[in-house]
Amino acid sequence: YMDGFYESVGKIGVVPVVVLDRVEDALPVADVLVRGGLPSAEVTFRTACAADAIREMSERCPELMVGAGTVLTLEQARRAVDAGARYIVSPGYNMEVVDWCLENEVPVLPAGVTPTEVTALVNRGLEVTKFFPAAQYGGLGTIKALASVFVGHRFMPTGGVSAANLREYLECPAILACGGTWMVKPDLIRAGEFERMYELTREAAQT
Ligand code: 3PG
Repeated sequence: YMDGFYESVGKIGVVPVVVLDRVEDALPVADVLVRGGLPSAEVTFRTACAADAIREMSERCPELMVGAGTVLTLEQARRAVDAGARYIVSPGYNMEVVDWCLENEVPVLPAGVTPTEVTALVNRGLEVTKFFPAAQYGGLGTIKALASVFVGHRFMPTGGVSAANLREYLECPAILACGGTWMVKPDLIRAGEFERMYELTREAAQT
């Protein structure tokens, strides 16, 4: 199941990170992402409606590969999967979360930025590390340096990825996919700018 997960993430190439304040926005955002060509959403457990939004999306938009982001605790991971999340993403490495996911065959993508952190993830059998926050930790240069040591390991930079640098990131063979909010910024969602989000999604999908 992890191989299949990595393959589908790599095929989409960009994982939109979705921060929702209102569950009513879940379906319109899902629709924009599917129509724009990025049928994936990492719905962050940073807002109270995250689990409800995941449930809406997974029940009513089956084309969308919906997962949960910002998962810090086992309790959040359980709630996310219960709501229909098909994968779990974390901004760091919590052993409890990762162990539970692997025991239950839930695809999981934890983050690391240092050689020690990547070592821990590699030794846990993971083949892809989310590299977060990418810009602040040296971006592409750091990923290339890590990739030269962790041969065959791949990365998903997130944090500071944008339309301006997406291509450069994706050209690196050690990068499986990029994550980010830029096509569905919370401000755009709040303002109901669905046409704009569609255009930004399409632009990212075609990069
Ligand atoms: C995340 O939630 O992973 C990051 O906040 C995304 O960072 P970005 O807003 O720079 O894309």
